[in-house]
Amino acid sequence: MNTPITSKSVSQPEDSSFNHTDWMILSRHWYPVARAVDVADQPVQALLLDVKVVVYRTSAGLSVALDRCPHRGVPLSKGCVKANHLVCAYHGLQFDAQGACKKIPAQPSLVPSDRFRLQSLPSVERYGLVWTCLNPDGHSAISPMPTWYDEAHQQVLPPSVDILGSAGRQVEGFVDVAHFAFVHHEAFADPENPVVPAYETEATDLGVRSDYVSNVSNLPKGLQHLASPDFQWRRVYEIYPPFTARLTVHFPDGGLLNILNCASPMTARSTRLFVPITRNFDTNGPLEDVYAFNAQVFAEDKDLVETQWPQELPLDPMAEAHFAADRTSLAYRKLLREMGLTFSRSASAMA
Ligand code: FES
Ligand SMILES: [Fe+2]
Repeated sequence: MNTPITSKSVSQPEDSSFNHTDWMILSRHWYPVARAVDVADQPVQALLLDVKVVVYRTSAGLSVALDRCPHRGVPLSKGCVKANHLVCAYHGLQFDAQGACKKIPAQPSLVPSDRFRLQSLPSVERYGLVWTCLNPDGHSAISPMPTWYDEAHQQVLPPSVDILGSAGRQVEGFVDVAHFAFVHHEAFADPENPVVPAYETEATDLGVRSDYVSNVSNLPKGLQHLASPDFQWRRVYEIYPPFTARLTVHFPDGGLLNILNCASPMTARSTRLFVPITRNFDTNGPLEDVYAFNAQVFAEDKDLVETQWPQELPLDPMAEAHFAADRTSLAYRKLLREMGLTFSRSASAMA
């Protein structure tokens, strides 16, 4: 972990799309902002909660900072990394992994003061992703995925997907079991089998778990003959609020597929989705097949998540109508409410 030497709190941008209370709550949590593999010798910009950050790599590892040069406000992501320093594109100021300014080329003999220090953020590399937190409070943690570090499992990290929809709507869609027959009938589900058997939901230390068993196969359409039609497919959903959920699908013969759905809120109404996947079967199978199946499933969801109205997930229990299969969604909305979130655009929610 790269811990900044100075850790000033980050303020909400004036033109932020979140109400102030929500932004303050959400800014204390960790989110992925890039795949580590995508940060090589060039700095990369990412957007998190309306805040532009830069991710860059030196021999000390990956660093994250606000994407703004302390000299004249140019985005550091327009610069480059040279000789282990992030170099600003405008006047060439050089910054080290901790954000300290080491050189001002126009005045090479000057030792730069702390006024030239970047506002660095903590960074952790986990599941192939670079995670950061704008205002760490020491309590929030990165959501768990133990199989990522288990040799018996193959680890796969597809490219991220941008969604013009809110993180809350996307996560709720990920844990929704009643849409398979209608939205995913080309990927894996059966359009003639829409019934959702009753299932249980329970509170966990980190959120909520649902344990759902049905005969809806999780195999891609062309491979469904590999499992008996009577096989009972178990899907366990773990929700880690605010915006991460993990699905474990139990395949025949002890097969386990794990999908960590990390919805990183770029703004209140746009999301960058990162999805680390592991499986303990076909572990030498081609990664392209996993990428393609994953991309197909999320593409099938995309148009619906992007057109739901309101765009923000409604947290008022009386908003929208619900049926029994929605119990995971309702538990998720309750968790978010209990965190103090409203997802309201109204001025009354502005502190
Ligand atoms: S704006 Fe970055 S060096 Fe001047
Ligand atoms: Fe879906």
